[in-house]
Amino acid sequence: MKNLFTWGTAFVLLSFLHSGCATNSEDSSASAKSNAILEMKRATDFHSYSRPEEAVITHLNWTASVNFDTRIISATAAYDIQTSAEAERILFDCVDLNIKEVRVDGESVDWELGPAQPYIGQPLSIPVNASSKSVSIAYESSPEAGALLWVEGENPFLFTQSQAILARTWVPCQDSPGIRFTYEAHVDVPVGTMAMMSATNPTEQSADGHYDFVMDQPIPSYLLALAVGNVEFRSVGEHTGVYAVPELIEAAAYEFAEMEDLLVAAESLYGKYAWERYDLLVLPAAFPFGGMENPRLTFATPTIIAGDRSLVSLVAHELAHSWSGNLVTNATWDDFWLNEGFTVYFEQRIMESVYGREISEMLATLSYQGLVDEVDQIMDTNPDDTHLKLHLQNRDPDDGMTAIAYDKGYFFLRLMEETVGREAFDSFLKTYFETHAFSVMDTEQFIAYLKTNLLNTPELLSAVNLDAWIFGAGLPANCPQVGSARIENVDAALANWEAGNLKTEDLPWNDWVYQERYRFLSNLADNTTAERMAELDAAWSITNTGNNEVLFAWLEQSVRSRYGVAYPRLESFLVNIGRRKFLTPLYRAMLESDQADMANRIYESARPQYHSVATGTMDELLSWNR
Ligand code: BES
Ligand code: ZN
Repeated sequence: MKNLFTWGTAFVLLSFLHSGCATNSEDSSASAKSNAILEMKRATDFHSYSRPEEAVITHLNWTASVNFDTRIISATAAYDIQTSAEAERILFDCVDLNIKEVRVDGESVDWELGPAQPYIGQPLSIPVNASSKSVSIAYESSPEAGALLWVEGENPFLFTQSQAILARTWVPCQDSPGIRFTYEAHVDVPVGTMAMMSATNPTEQSADGHYDFVMDQPIPSYLLALAVGNVEFRSVGEHTGVYAVPELIEAAAYEFAEMEDLLVAAESLYGKYAWERYDLLVLPAAFPFGGMENPRLTFATPTIIAGDRSLVSLVAHELAHSWSGNLVTNATWDDFWLNEGFTVYFEQRIMESVYGREISEMLATLSYQGLVDEVDQIMDTNPDDTHLKLHLQNRDPDDGMTAIAYDKGYFFLRLMEETVGREAFDSFLKTYFETHAFSVMDTEQFIAYLKTNLLNTPELLSAVNLDAWIFGAGLPANCPQVGSARIENVDAALANWEAGNLKTEDLPWNDWVYQERYRFLSNLADNTTAERMAELDAAWSITNTGNNEVLFAWLEQSVRSRYGVAYPRLESFLVNIGRRKFLTPLYRAMLESDQADMANRIYESARPQYHSVATGTMDELLSWNR
């Protein structure tokens, strides 16, 4: 069993000690500190070398220069630190960093890099003692740094993706979600580009390529982010705006015009937004995710620009992380569902409040189907991975990014809502975010909090069955039922169309919103013939759709049906878009339908444009080792 006294408490204690003592080298404070540090038990994070109970960072001052020609960031990471009375060293996480010099309180010291281990990289050990106040590390990143993607061409672009444990590929850091720090940064980039971070951001390009950033609220390292490119800013509301390259800024401002409404809805659900501004940056299509909740500046794939605002639930999701994840943070990657499950629930509530229950129930129905499919898949190979609480020691934390954390997590929260009633659940969640703001949460601590503050009777506990949801495999029998009349109509239309009772031109395709079209296409029978695909295409010209979710579902079925007319679009989709959620099923469909040659040919030309997160998965899928 884990001790309930976790790092969140420790952080508060350390801050208290810091402000309560004139200098922490004084003898009396040193012994008070050592007592406090003895009490600090926190969830063990197997994915970081850092030992915060010995020495921990509190603030980062990052000075960096970004070189597109060499693909190297040359930087100094200067940290304020706090040390225990017994501290002998401070440990940082590093992957492929070229460490040049290390100073402690201004004096050059001998540092040591330990042996590399799979996934987590190397420990950087720096000698300190109880009176050490600061550590500064001068270093260069590697051109192959896993977090970074350098886009070449006329309009060069650089972005980072730090979650889960890639921050250490571009900043030596205590790369554990339970460790928070404030930061400032001073960054030089090529003239003609703008630098942006998960911090206060510029709205205009500077004349000399120099940018300064401040992040006053403490964040964990996985929320460190940097992007550099020729972008413009456009305000869409009082606290909201978008950044995009000039070609996309107009479309982005239209697509995300409702961001302020989402923000207002979110605040009225679960309390004040803690990060001042909420902006969104449209990244190059190579971005391996849909979105990333970098504080103050969500990073997003351009594939959600559909022209009709139909894919904004992704923005609702990243915005929701401003509470679940960024304010209350999973202690380790084994507790990832505390970030993502809560966020999907919150996302759904934002969608319901802005667009109505019919839309949010369609989304819930789609997510239920995705969940059931994925549970089946994972049960075949690794049933323990269907538990909400994961065990990712000695594995890539990326393995936890499945529908379990997201959608099993969502349905678990929805079950609690339905069990205690919405009013009680909302007030519970609001208080949960308030009481744990800027701290960390692990699964066991959450269960204890839940038992005290929500499920406080034997009846409620047995109605929910925490064990089955959190520590059990598969989908528990008391999973909430979702229903959407519109989705049922789609299913009926599909059944009729497949049985030949409904003509292709009588499908209500033009009345359907994206969720309905997606449902139809993703449920086409595997053995749908190319002729039938051609009929659909002739009637509704689906190969030319501007909605990438619809296109994705269409292309996947085109592969399975060997509908060659769609192949040029398939190829350009795969070469231009690096979003892993699309890539994996499309390449897999080729493999499963005896078209491995095509998969390999396309992958060979697309691979150089993909981010390491995507190539990691695709290399494995395609057994790629060239
Ligand atoms: N924080 C995640 C992305 C992530 C998770 C990156 C784990 C690296 C490791 C982000 O909030 C997310 O969930 N993105 C989803 C979109 C969402 C609407 C489900 C995505 O990118 O698909
Ligand atoms: Zn998320």
